[in-house]
Amino acid sequence: MIKPGHVKSYHIITFGCQMNAHDSEKLAGILQAKGYEATDDADTAGLVVFNTCCIRENAENRALGHLGYLKHIKAHRPGLVVAVGGCMPQMEEGHARLKKSGVVDIFFGTHNLHTFGELLDESLTTGKVDKILAEYDNSPETEVPTVREFAWKSGVNIMYGCNNFCSYCVVPYVRGRERSRKPADIIREVQNLAVDGVTEIMLLGQNVNSYLGTDDGCDSVDFPALLSYIARLKPGLERIRFMTSHPKDLSPELIKAIAEHKNICKHIHLPVQSGSDRVLSNMNRSYTRADYLSLIGDLRRSIQDIAITTDIIVGFPGETDEDFAETLNLCKEARFSGAFTFIYSKRSGTKAAEMPGEVPGEVANARFKVLTDLIHPMFLDYAKTFKGKVVGALAEKLENGIYTGRTESNHPIHFPAKQDGGGLLGKIVAVTVTQAKTFYLTGELVEEITDGN
Ligand code: SAH
Ligand code: SF4
Ligand code: F3S
Repeated sequence: MIKPGHVKSYHIITFGCQMNAHDSEKLAGILQAKGYEATDDADTAGLVVFNTCCIRENAENRALGHLGYLKHIKAHRPGLVVAVGGCMPQMEEGHARLKKSGVVDIFFGTHNLHTFGELLDESLTTGKVDKILAEYDNSPETEVPTVREFAWKSGVNIMYGCNNFCSYCVVPYVRGRERSRKPADIIREVQNLAVDGVTEIMLLGQNVNSYLGTDDGCDSVDFPALLSYIARLKPGLERIRFMTSHPKDLSPELIKAIAEHKNICKHIHLPVQSGSDRVLSNMNRSYTRADYLSLIGDLRRSIQDIAITTDIIVGFPGETDEDFAETLNLCKEARFSGAFTFIYSKRSGTKAAEMPGEVPGEVANARFKVLTDLIHPMFLDYAKTFKGKVVGALAEKLENGIYTGRTESNHPIHFPAKQDGGGLLGKIVAVTVTQAKTFYLTGELVEEITDGN
C-alpha cells in the first residue's frame, strides 16, 4: 500500500433496492476479508464506498449531494479513498455526472463488484481506477463472502438481471440479462443461514417469477418449485419472503405454494404501475388491467388474509386524465395494504425517454397528491383490520425501550419491551395490536411464539 495516511476502516453508503442492499453486504464481506473494519462515521473512515442507484433522477441527486460533502473532507484527509459503484456509473450519463464531482478514486459497476478488493489494491498503488464492464463476464457472482447487516435476516439472490425492458426502466441496462443461480447453490446458502440462526430470508430478483435454475444433469427448477423446496428445508426458516413478482409471470403454482406453506409470508409485492391499458401497453408491462385484477382475485381467494402491496408511477408520457382516473379506480378495487408511489422520471437510454406527450411537472405533482390522498386512507382502513388481533412480529430493533418489528403482512409494529435486555431481537413474538396508523401499527407484547408465525 502506497497511499499515505490511508487507514483500514470503511463506511458504505447504500442507495436503491434490496439488491443493492445485499450487494453492500458483499462489499462489506470483501473488505473485512482484507482486514478493513466497519465504521459508522464517514468523516473518519479511510474508505467511503457509495453503492448507487439510478432508477429515478432523485436517487442520483442524493448520491451526488453526498459526494459533494465528501469533497470538503477529502481536502483535509489525503488518505481517504472514495469508491463509487452500483447502477449509476453503469449508465454513461450517470458515470459522467459522477466524474464531474472530481472526488472519486475508484469507479466500479454492477458486473464487477466481486473484484472490488483488487480494484482497491490497484487504486492504493496507482491512484485512480475506472472500471465499468458493459457485460456480465460469467464470474461467480455468488462466491463472494458476505457480512450480514442483521444477524437474523438476510437477502438471498436467486437471479440477477432483467429481460423485461419496461419502457421507463434502466434496470435491464444496468443489471444485464436474466441469469438464474443454480438451485443447489441457493439451497446450500439458505441452509447455512438457517444453521447460523437466521429467522427470515428474502429471495431476491428483479422478477423472481421468471426464475429457471438448472443443475448439471437435472431438470430445470422454476420459482414455485424452488420456493416450496426452501419452505420444507430442515432446519427450517421461520419466515420466507420474496421480491419482486411481475404480474405477467405469476402462476397458479406460485399461489398454491404460498398458500400451502406456513413459513412463506402471506404478503406479495406486485407492482401494477398503472390502471390504464393504454399506459400499461406503452410501458411494455405485458398485462392488462383486467389481468391484474383477476390475479388479485385469485390471490385473495386462495390465500386467506394475504397483504398485497404495489408500485405505481404517475405522469408517464402520454398519461391523460382518463388514464390516471383508471389508476385511481384500480386502487379502489385492489385494496392494497401499501404502495410505493413515484412520479415518472425520464431516464436517458430507455424507450419512454423518446416517447411524446411529456406530462408537465405540475400536472404530475397534482396527480401524485390525488393518488396518495386516495390510497393513504385505504392503507389506514387495512391497518385497522389488525386492531385487537394478536400478530407475529419479528423484533428487529430496540430503541429507548421500544421494539420495532415486522408483521407477516410487512407492517412495521412498535411495542414496549419488558425488561428483557434486547433478548427478543431476531425472534418472532406475539403482539396484540392496540393502534393502527397509515404506515405502522403499535401493540403490546403477549408472549414469545416458538412455532413460527
Ligand atoms: N423489478 C421490479 C421493480 C424495479 S424498480 C418490478 O418490475 O416490479 C422499482 C420501481 O421503481 C418500479 O416498480 C417502478 O414503479 C419504479 N420505477 C422504475 N423506473 C422508474 C422511472 N423511470 N420513473 C419512476 N418510477 C420508476
Ligand atoms: Fe424494470 Fe420492468 Fe425489469 Fe422491473 S420488470 S426491473 S420495472 S424492466
Ligand atoms: Fe436502483 Fe439498481 Fe436497484 S437502479 S432500484 S439499485 S437495480
